Amino acid sequence: MFKKLVFLGTGGTIAGTAAGVNDNVGYTAAQLGVGELLAALPGLQQVLGGLAFFAEQVAQVDSKDMGWPQWRELAVRVQHHLVQPDVASIVITHGTDTLEETAFFLSRVLPQKWLAQKAVVLTCAMRPASSLAPDGPQNVLDAVAVAQSDVARGVLAVCAGAVHSARDVQKVHPYRLDAFDSGDAGPLAYVQEGRVRWLHACPVADIGDQFFPVEALSRDAWPRVEIILSYAGATGDTVRALCAKPVDSAHVVRGIVVAGTGNGTIHQHLNTALREAQAQGVRVLRATRCAYGSVVTGTAAGEFADAQGLSPVKARIALMLELMA
Ligand code: SIN
Repeated sequence: MFKKLVFLGTGGTIAGTAAGVNDNVGYTAAQLGVGELLAALPGLQQVLGGLAFFAEQVAQVDSKDMGWPQWRELAVRVQHHLVQPDVASIVITHGTDTLEETAFFLSRVLPQKWLAQKAVVLTCAMRPASSLAPDGPQNVLDAVAVAQSDVARGVLAVCAGAVHSARDVQKVHPYRLDAFDSGDAGPLAYVQEGRVRWLHACPVADIGDQFFPVEALSRDAWPRVEIILSYAGATGDTVRALCAKPVDSAHVVRGIVVAGTGNGTIHQHLNTALREAQAQGVRVLRATRCAYGSVVTGTAAGEFADAQGLSPVKARIALMLELMA
């Protein structure tokens, strides 16, 4: 019998404060604890119904500064709570800037068995908590509604009343409150007046696709995978500099994700350098820099492995985990 909902705080704008109530851009992220945010949230008890809640601060960062140490700690804490029989689901407050990366990372490392029964819901805000009209409180209430839904499964993201899957969600706007989008896939659901209107079932394929156990996440630096963009006038200089003899083993570049133009095409000069890198043993994955859709592969095997429909930032995570294995 589920008895509680767990909230894990990681920082972000949702926990940010500015000097004035009209300042929605000149604020400092990650100033308030998740406990403070919940204490100041009217209507939380009502939305929780009879459920108790437990809040834990796992990190306190502007999510642009998120890195593998915070990811590892977060995965450990989420897993700890997720496997408790009395925990219904988990809500994570997070910055918007790298929310899609953390969501995807968690979807790859948390135990499939539990993700198939419960939801891990990331939520956020585009305006700081000190704003005259902050969006964080409503986003948290919406996330709670999703976390309590009988059909919510896997790792999800909730922002501005829309529910997205970890695989498809991406931040597409630097300022609008409705800053997230799921591209061609579209959102999974909308939250309306506290009720979740599901459009699609939570994708089971996302749950534990290429499962990598939390326990196996390294405590040392994770394999270095860089992202390179192809563009008009691109050269191979950056790739060659990256692959030059490093100062120490932690700096060895093990993988490169190339965000190609259009259908994953790559400037010829950059292509030559990537070919050299691959010949040196660097893993190269080809994605597209287009916001919508993914690289459509033909019948011929490509020179570089395809990113399997993942955006460049998510392909990087998938490759890091693969290299860690
Ligand atoms: C952050 O990502 O932590 C800051 C920006 C935001 O949350 O909107």
